[in-house]
Amino acid sequence: MTQDEMKKAVGWAALEYVPRNSVIGVGTGSTVNHFIDALASIKDEIKAAVSSSEASSERLKAIGIPVISLNEVESLSVYVDGADEVNSQMEMIKGGGAALTREKIVAAVADKFVCIADASKQVEVMGQFPLPVEVIPMAREYVARELKKLGGTPIHRDGTITDNGNHILDVHELKITDAKGLESRINSIVGVVTNGLFAHRAANTLLLATKDGVKKIEA
Ligand code: 5RP
Repeated sequence: MTQDEMKKAVGWAALEYVPRNSVIGVGTGSTVNHFIDALASIKDEIKAAVSSSEASSERLKAIGIPVISLNEVESLSVYVDGADEVNSQMEMIKGGGAALTREKIVAAVADKFVCIADASKQVEVMGQFPLPVEVIPMAREYVARELKKLGGTPIHRDGTITDNGNHILDVHELKITDAKGLESRINSIVGVVTNGLFAHRAANTLLLATKDGVKKIEA
């Protein structure tokens, strides 16, 4: 099984977690794209979706699912999204696709976060994947200096502008043993919009695609 076949398997497996006739949250990335393909098969049973990126919104609209603003709903039954790394406590690094801020906002409103990932994303200690940090453009170099003080090596993701008009710093060489603490610490730096650690709002369910099939792990 290739990595893309695993992403497809887990994207389709997530359909089981979609309550019918409700508004759902939809994430961003290549695994989620398979989930959106799967949603097409039940599109008439989806009231609407709130999406974490312009890219996912376009895909959802293309298959006929109405996309609404988060401000139009008080709650979301479920949020389905991928991850760049996930540990045994269901904490994640996200933001490889630069959508981390909207992902975190939509996840905050959802009753349940279902993480869909292939086995390569499962790690014991997070940090091998560089941690994305969304920053206000004028604060970028200041924030980079502050991140260096925390032991990381921030690299500007050149050419990337987020859907919110901001820049991304990818922080290399972090060994993340206290994800909640680091998430809060980085978010306290002036100029940071948010960082890609999802520790305070970890996943509730992890669907992990392995060569032996999709494993379901509950928090
Ligand atoms: C986008 C994300 C994605 O969920 C993450 O990068 C995983 O992507 P993929 O499913 O393509 O491996 O956080 O900002």
